[in-house]
Amino acid sequence: MSWSATILTLFPEMFPGPLGTSLAGRALREGIWGCQAQDIRVFATDRHRTVDDTPFGGGAGMVMRPDVIDAAISATLAKNDERPLIYLTPRGRLLDQSLVRDLAAGPGVVLLCGRYEGVDQRVIEARQMLEVSVGDYVLSGGELGAMILLDACVRLLPGVMGAPESAVEESHSAGLLEYAQYTRPAEWQGRAVPPVLLSGHHAEVARWRRQESEAVTRERRPDLWTRMQVAGGSAAS
Ligand code: ADE
Repeated sequence: MSWSATILTLFPEMFPGPLGTSLAGRALREGIWGCQAQDIRVFATDRHRTVDDTPFGGGAGMVMRPDVIDAAISATLAKNDERPLIYLTPRGRLLDQSLVRDLAAGPGVVLLCGRYEGVDQRVIEARQMLEVSVGDYVLSGGELGAMILLDACVRLLPGVMGAPESAVEESHSAGLLEYAQYTRPAEWQGRAVPPVLLSGHHAEVARWRRQESEAVTRERRPDLWTRMQVAGGSAAS
């Protein structure tokens, strides 16, 4: 069984979208992962196919109805489906590489994409959804967040990336940002590549990259740097 993604959305035509191109697209065609988008509106019960209603307590916008969402989940998932059910929302826990790794290592994901002001909290609780945000900003719906989550997971699946070691060195894999990269020409517009990278001395290159990783993390992401030190990372040496 390949890694499988089911997306519950009011806009199924958005999928696979950009995930149908490049690395993820090739993996999709090769059957390394599967992507099924389910239209939530199919599960509306009235003549007008209503999926949302005004919020109790008043206020702007519309809220997606729990009965419609619940029916969509029941109809879409197999009885013994063990994939985590994730609701994309700016109220969720932040997506990070550690969650991405966990999800990629499992059987796949079921992603619920909200629109409007969100989804009735009761169905989120009743279905024990994991609420996940892709960043501290507000999108007009969960679909682009779902694509971000899927892209981050799919590239970690076995056979998707050309060189698996690039996933070990890249940003966030060890709690640090990645070192800067350079390629030919060795001098460009008067700017030289750091000489150590041309030295052929592997241990020196590794040391330079480690220092560069630490420096850029400290400067740009003091939050990651602190977490790394609290976790007892080797970065302090
Ligand atoms: N839906 C709207 N904004 C979002 C965000 N930041 N993350 C996940 N889903 C969202």
